Parts: sequence; C-alpha cells; structure tokens
Amino acid sequence: MAKITVNGGKKLNGVIKLHGAKNSVLPILAATVLISGISVIHNCPRLSDVDAAVKILEHLGAVVVREGDTVTIDCGNLTNYSIPDELMREMRSSIVFLGAIASRMGKASLSSPGGCELGPRPIDLHLNALNELGLKIEEEHGILKCDCGEGMIGTDIHLSFPSVGATENIILAGVTAKGVTVLHGAAREPEISDLADFLNGAGANIQGAGSDNIIIYGTSVLRSAEHTVIPDRIEAATYLAAAAVTGGKITLLGAIPAHLTPVMSVLKTAGCELSVKQNQISLIAPVRLKRVPVIRTMPHPGFPTDAGSPLMAMLSVADGSSMFVENIFENRFRIVDELKRFGAKIYTNGRVAVIEGVKKLSGAAVECTDLRGGAALIIAALASSGVTEISKIHHLDRGYEKLTENLSFLGATVERC
Ligand code: UD1
Repeated sequence: MAKITVNGGKKLNGVIKLHGAKNSVLPILAATVLISGISVIHNCPRLSDVDAAVKILEHLGAVVVREGDTVTIDCGNLTNYSIPDELMREMRSSIVFLGAIASRMGKASLSSPGGCELGPRPIDLHLNALNELGLKIEEEHGILKCDCGEGMIGTDIHLSFPSVGATENIILAGVTAKGVTVLHGAAREPEISDLADFLNGAGANIQGAGSDNIIIYGTSVLRSAEHTVIPDRIEAATYLAAAAVTGGKITLLGAIPAHLTPVMSVLKTAGCELSVKQNQISLIAPVRLKRVPVIRTMPHPGFPTDAGSPLMAMLSVADGSSMFVENIFENRFRIVDELKRFGAKIYTNGRVAVIEGVKKLSGAAVECTDLRGGAALIIAALASSGVTEISKIHHLDRGYEKLTENLSFLGATVERC
C-alpha cells in the first residue's frame, strides 16, 4: 500500500497553481449525460473521484477522451440507465448522476450510497425532490429503481436544508423538465453556480444559481458545450494552511478570492498576512500562529466544512485555544485521534472540538480516515519535527492532484512510496 513520508519542520515558500474543483467537475460530468452533443471540459483535475465518474459515464455508453486537463465526453449514444453497485461504492457522490440519467433515459437504476467515512449520508432530500418532479422511486434489495415515464415535470420545491448534492440533482432533473422548476432553499456553493454556467452554456435556462432561489426553465434540447471548471477552493485552503503552519510564504495562482472569504478571515485572525489580486492569493505566516476563538462550519457563504480538518491541524500549534463547531457532518472529528499522535491536544464533545495549541508537534505513524482528514495529517506532519509516515493515502488521491509534487516544489521534504 502506498504511503507518504514527510520530514517536517521546513518552511513552505513559493508559487503554485490550483487545479480545477473536484466538487464542480463531478456534477458537471454528471450533467454531460443530458447533452446528446459533445461536452468539452477544461481544467479537469486528475483525481480518483474523477476517474470513478468517468467509469460511470463509460458504463452508460459515453465515449470519454482525456488529454491533459481536458476531458471530452460524447453522450450521443447512451445505452444504459443503471450504475452498478461497485461503481456507486467507488464514489459516494455518484448519487448526483440520478437526476441526469432519469431525465435523459426516462429511467435510472442505482444502489443507495449508504454510509461513508463522514457518517451516514442520507439522500432523502434528493429523492423527495426528484419525486416531486415526477420521478417514481422504488427500493428493492438496496437498489433504487426510478422511472419518470414521459419525463420530469417542473414544480416548486422547498429544501429543508441547503444540501449541495440535492440542489445539483434538482438542477439536473429540472433542466430538461416540462415547465418551470422553482427551488427554494437551494445551496449557494460556488460549485452550484459553476454547474449552472456549464448547463446554460449548453442552452439551459437556469437563473439565480448562487442564491437560495433558483429558477429553472425547462428546455427540450441541450447542445454541445465547452466549459472551464472553477479552481478548487478547498485545495486552496489546504495549501494556505500548510504554508501558515510552517511559517512560510505562498502565492496561489488561478484562485478566486471571493470563494475563500471565510477561510481567509480565519487565517487573518490567526495572524497571517493575506493579499489578493484578481486571480491570486498570497499569504505570509506569522512567527507563531494566534488562536481563533470559534470557527463554525456552515453552508456557503459560511466557513466550509471541508476546510475544517486542515485548519484544525494548523491551529493545533497556535498560541492559545481555538474551538471548532461542526454543523454539517457528524463524523468529521474521526481524524482527531490521529492528530493526537503528533502530540496535538484536541478535546471533542459531540460536534464541538477544542484545540489547545502546543508549541511543537513530533512526527508519527498515522493513517488517513477521510479525504480532508488526510490533508490535516499532511499539515500536522509539515509542522512536526522528525519523520511522519502517512498510510491509507487513497483518501488523499480522491481530492488532491500532484500533492507531494507541489509540496516538494514549495520546499517540503515529502515522498510518496
Ligand atoms: C458536498 C461536497 C462535500 C461537502 C458537502 C458540504 C461534493 C461532491 N461533495 O457533499 O465535499 O463537504 O457538500 O459542503 O460536492 N443531507 C441529508 N439528506 C440529504 C442530503 C444531505 O440529511 O438528502 C445532510 C448530510 O448528511 C449532511 C448535510 O446534509 O449532514 C450536508 O450534505 P450535502 O450538502 O448534501 O453534502 P454533499 O452534497 O453530500
């Protein structure tokens, strides 16, 4: 099994370019199912989750060609409306294919995604909304058998929580529905706007994406489209935290600063100097990071849950105690036990974690529990004296392209073996 070793204590200095956002490209790949022409997607990151999405597309009958960071998808002749269980398990967020497959094929069959490393991952909001759009859903032996007969029919939908995936599924189902779909209580994440931009470029008429009310005017045919995926704000948050924890200086190219406002605000409170230009963010770390009294994870535009673990690792060496309140996923704190192996002092109670900053961490043998938890281990390892060995790094491959290459380039002693 592959591992990453880090010999910590080196300052990270330099300039790197961000990759395309994982959480944008996955629903966009699902959206290509709606398009009978050719979709050309630029800035597509090389990630195992993207590989899983491509496998699903190919299983459905799409022809997919990848060249560099461009992926070209021809969904002209889809032959399948089911996703086998092993592909569903490879990527929990594959549920976002449901709205698109059912809309295009009139039917869909896939297994329920079940639980994941962040705790139970219910899909009730997805299923209820799709049902309101006319999708009949029956569950047989863990398989969801879905049928929308003559097609989806636009309606008013109210989400009780702004679920990112449910918002995406509703958009995907509403785009080619008959009539108008009005979604109240939508998720406002930048990745939702990116999905809508892609679909509007293909001839869809989606208005209000990025706000909590989205109006989708159904269109019968979508045409070929070309799109460039937005930069990954969580990758950005991870590298900013990594530079901050080592007392370094970093510039991220290709960033959209407005997507990172809550993360930059926490980094400033921790004593980092941040400057932004149109498409770049620079950070200069203080000699010692300061405590951040409270960070509450919230749906966008609040502090993103995915940046929680990396910043928790960063604050484990801050001067004083910080507190995290995790409001989105119940199992985010599984990584805490691994962080404690470095000598971090973190105490959890339910959704609350208190981080008592220590002066130094020391390298340890640790294992990733989930994608962003893995990023937290990298950050703790960079701040530690001595060698850290990180295992179960397949979690990191889901969301970070060229992680060890980038860190080496910035001056870290890190190796994948
Ligand atoms: C997406 C992101 C993930 C991020 C999360 C929150 C992708 C591929 N993943 O995940 O990285 O951490 O948004 O920003 O974009 N919920 C329900 N019922 C549902 C759907 C969700 O109870 O039908 C709950 C979930 O259990 C969770 C919360 O709502 O507690 C947020 O989930 P959601 O916004 O749907 O996250 P994902 O789309 O799964």
